[in-house]
Amino acid sequence: MNGELRLSDAGKKVVLMGWVNRRRDLGQIIFVDLRDRTGVTQVVFNHELNAAVHEKAESLRNEFVIAAIGTVKRRDADTINPNVPTGEVELVVEELRILNVSKPLPFLPSDTVLANEEMRLKYRYIDLRRDAMQSNIELRHKVALAIRDNLASQGFFEIETPFMTRSTPEGARDYLVPSRVQPGMFYALPQSPQLFKQILMISGFDKYFQIVRCFRDEDLRADRQPEFTQIDLEMSYPQPERVWEVVEGFLTAAFKAAGHEIKTPFLRMDFDDAIRQYGIDKPDLRLPAFTDVKDCFAPADLEQLAINKDLPVIAIRIPHVGELSRKERDDIKPLFVSKGGARVFEDFKRIETKFPEASAKVREKVRDKTGGLAADDLLVLVVGSVQSGASADTHPASKRKVTPAEMAIYASAGLLRVALAQKYSDRHKLFQKGDYRFLWVTNFPMFEYDEADKRWMAAHHPFTSPHDEDMDKLETDPAMVRALAYDVVLNGTELGSGSIRIHRQDVQSRIFHALGMTEEEARARFGFFLEALEYGTPPHGGIALGLDRIVMILAGADSLREVIPFPKTAAAKDLMMEAPTPVADGQLRELGIGVVKKA
Ligand code: AMO
Repeated sequence: MNGELRLSDAGKKVVLMGWVNRRRDLGQIIFVDLRDRTGVTQVVFNHELNAAVHEKAESLRNEFVIAAIGTVKRRDADTINPNVPTGEVELVVEELRILNVSKPLPFLPSDTVLANEEMRLKYRYIDLRRDAMQSNIELRHKVALAIRDNLASQGFFEIETPFMTRSTPEGARDYLVPSRVQPGMFYALPQSPQLFKQILMISGFDKYFQIVRCFRDEDLRADRQPEFTQIDLEMSYPQPERVWEVVEGFLTAAFKAAGHEIKTPFLRMDFDDAIRQYGIDKPDLRLPAFTDVKDCFAPADLEQLAINKDLPVIAIRIPHVGELSRKERDDIKPLFVSKGGARVFEDFKRIETKFPEASAKVREKVRDKTGGLAADDLLVLVVGSVQSGASADTHPASKRKVTPAEMAIYASAGLLRVALAQKYSDRHKLFQKGDYRFLWVTNFPMFEYDEADKRWMAAHHPFTSPHDEDMDKLETDPAMVRALAYDVVLNGTELGSGSIRIHRQDVQSRIFHALGMTEEEARARFGFFLEALEYGTPPHGGIALGLDRIVMILAGADSLREVIPFPKTAAAKDLMMEAPTPVADGQLRELGIGVVKKA
């Protein structure tokens, strides 16, 4: 293969096949870098040695597919290329076959400047020929293989579940598939195999996994695709710690396959602590936690600065950002998204100028509290405005350890912390390649309050078990019910989510009820499942991780599109196939479907 020839092959007669990556015509000699999946080898057409072959080589252009037959030769010392593994040899061509020609390309796999993303996706087959994409897809293969092997070695069976199914609620919209034989009826593509895997536990396959495509019609972001791949697993009789051990096992194998060693067990953190220290349930541990510095201010200082004295005063510290210009300080404000009543002091210096008398003392205290504040650290404060939190006591979640009004401050600070860290990433050098900080976030609340609908929703999904000791609060105090749910987080990205499930029919019915479903609604949507739970269901639990996200992080990419061979755009389009498309009237008629134009 083209990337595999070495000095020890000198003198051998070989046939190389591949694409013309680059061609240099020096008149009497033509050099071609011949590329295949394994790399490139320089092949040489020398007029003096073989005029006919040289003449034929004159017609070669970029991305022609050729077979070159010849003898491997050691390169002259001054032409050795130490930058490629085959750089010590070249193939002196004796016979050339042009297997196929190529039109001039919209961009070249060998281009050093990337084509724009639209072109890359439209001509994905050319884009995939690029070294970077070849290695991302290879990485994906290796990671998936390592995970599959590891889970098999831990006693898990890979079992396929249907794609044509009925909707299970995972919080997004379904992609629907119409049924021709049952006009007016629709299958849903699975958002995850959640119910099937639970049914498999009822069926006696006590360790299941699947590397499986899932489909969700949701707003797309860099780390979300409408079709994506989960490493989905479920097991019978586990404590959460057992599930974590399984995951740590296959992640160790996956990262090893990519050349990285990771440490287990991962750190564990309560949801409430994650919120109080990082303002988010997927903390990036590469950055310092933030600190509540309210007690560094005298009550009069807080009043003078119009800071709400009943809410946290969050100091976000981003190390080694250095002195900011006035313009740079102004650039911070647009990064701030207030989640209700939160305000920002873009830079501690702004506070100092507002009340110079007390500020030195305050700064000193803040320095102590934030665990040492270097002169070049950026310090930004997020505070509650005086008016915020007024209605907090009446909020259904007001008795939680972190109240809704506090949550608004923490969440605003959490988002700003990440935005600032990203904006100044080239200065603080905290984001180092290969620095992997894993974390289990546990003890999530069972329910989230939907302000728009004025009702409780499942924070994870409705099959998650509440904590045993919170069971009696299901009807009386849903805000205080904790879930046996957990997330695995890596460097600020949620890699996976899971839970111990409900295995008793009566508990499952109570949860549906707590979510505002009547008995009839629950039976209509999940009757088959409620019935299955009644036939000897073992306690069970599991998790699903996003394979695409794991590979994205390992590849150091900033979008899932870099690690999915044929991804969709942000508008959920496949630019190469040009999907979705309208379908023929006849096809619609057969399905009994009429298309209504949206206003
Ligand atoms: P959840 O919905 O949290 O849980 O999904 C699990 C993991 O799947 C990945 N993921 C996605 N990746 C790319 N694009 C998307 N649109 C997308 N949506 C989710 C994430 C996420 O952490 N059935 C439960 C799991 C369980 O309880 O066992 C579930 O699907 O990495």
